[in-house]
Amino acid sequence: MKCRVCREPAIIDIRRHNANFCEEHFLRLCRDQVTKAIDAFSMITPDERCLVAVSGGKDSLAVWDILLDLGYQVDGLYLGLGIGDYSDESARYAREYAESRGATLIEVSLPRTYGFDIPNGSRAAKRKPCSACGLSKRHLFDQAAIAGRYDVVATGHNLDDEAAVLFGNVLHWQTDYLGRQLPVLPARDGFPRKIKPLVRLGEREMAAYCVVKGIDYIVDECPMAKGNKHIGYKEALNAIEATSAGAKHSFYFGFLDRASERFQAEAEADQAELTPCIECGSPTSTEVCAFCRLVTRAGGHLPEGDHDIRLDAWFGDHRHVEPVLDDAYPDPDPDPDPDPDVGAGADDAIAVDLSPTRRTPKDVRA
Ligand code: AMP
Ligand code: FES
Ligand code: ZN
Ligand code: ZN
Repeated sequence: MKCRVCREPAIIDIRRHNANFCEEHFLRLCRDQVTKAIDAFSMITPDERCLVAVSGGKDSLAVWDILLDLGYQVDGLYLGLGIGDYSDESARYAREYAESRGATLIEVSLPRTYGFDIPNGSRAAKRKPCSACGLSKRHLFDQAAIAGRYDVVATGHNLDDEAAVLFGNVLHWQTDYLGRQLPVLPARDGFPRKIKPLVRLGEREMAAYCVVKGIDYIVDECPMAKGNKHIGYKEALNAIEATSAGAKHSFYFGFLDRASERFQAEAEADQAELTPCIECGSPTSTEVCAFCRLVTRAGGHLPEGDHDIRLDAWFGDHRHVEPVLDDAYPDPDPDPDPDPDVGAGADDAIAVDLSPTRRTPKDVRA
């Protein structure tokens, strides 16, 4: 197996590109694919400040790494969701990476700041854990970005994630969600732009990227995500991809090219009806926004004081004083199911052991 570019021994084959790559050219391919996505969708410019939401998993650490290597100004944001050992361990990977690059990692703890964790809070609120988790993440990503004056929030959603969400939305004909399923959501109402720079790269490539770059990441999936529908959709698409290389790519990018625009009018009509949440000021279609309702039902509390004071608690002196809004723009990961916003990375497509104890470039040899 030889590298398509240099004919040296390859470490990975990528069937949808019908090509193999050596370490050097595989890393270059990953960077090039991110550059291509950034250019095609006008995601970010070098003078903008970006906050990357980092879970400690392969995708978000890889996107942080690639954006830094490409010269963008990127800080990380880790949200502590209070999911026992899983959260402790994932925080550790995020911190270790930040330290290794001398990069800034902002940490926000749901239990400490809002008085509830996902396992207990979702039970009390009678919501599925992944739905409470997704809602909290969207709210806190926005809030942190506004507080820290970031222009852009990036997440580690990859092609497998996006194809699976699209699959779920099509399966249930969630036309309002289909109009918002884009790799970029523009800034609006004072909110930062949201971008998904990994849409041209698959899960297997991101795991291989971390292995080759020596980035340690949490391999375990979130224990609360087991058995949810999103994972089932990913498995279904993996089965299709196995016999039809490139199917995920053409499904997702075909949708973006030829169909997504048709659903945008409906999505925009939805947005027009938002008014500020009476608790926190977030644009919402109800009097109190979904996150504030979750906080109450989960037995938590909003931090003491007004918005500015709450921001101080996170950011000290370099806060940015503007109304704190949260859910202003569409769910980046709409899922019609009762389990929205999941996307724990099932690595079934990876033929080799990528566990942290065995990470050498040799291991990603396909
Ligand atoms: P998931 O919904 O778990 O697949 O995560 C999707 C994306 O959300 C990840 O690629 C990260 O960018 C971000 N993310 C997930 N969990 C966290 C977290 N605890 N803290 C910060 N960002 C996260
Ligand atoms: Fe959110 Fe598991 S419930 S990551
Ligand atoms: Zn090569
Ligand atoms: Zn609110």
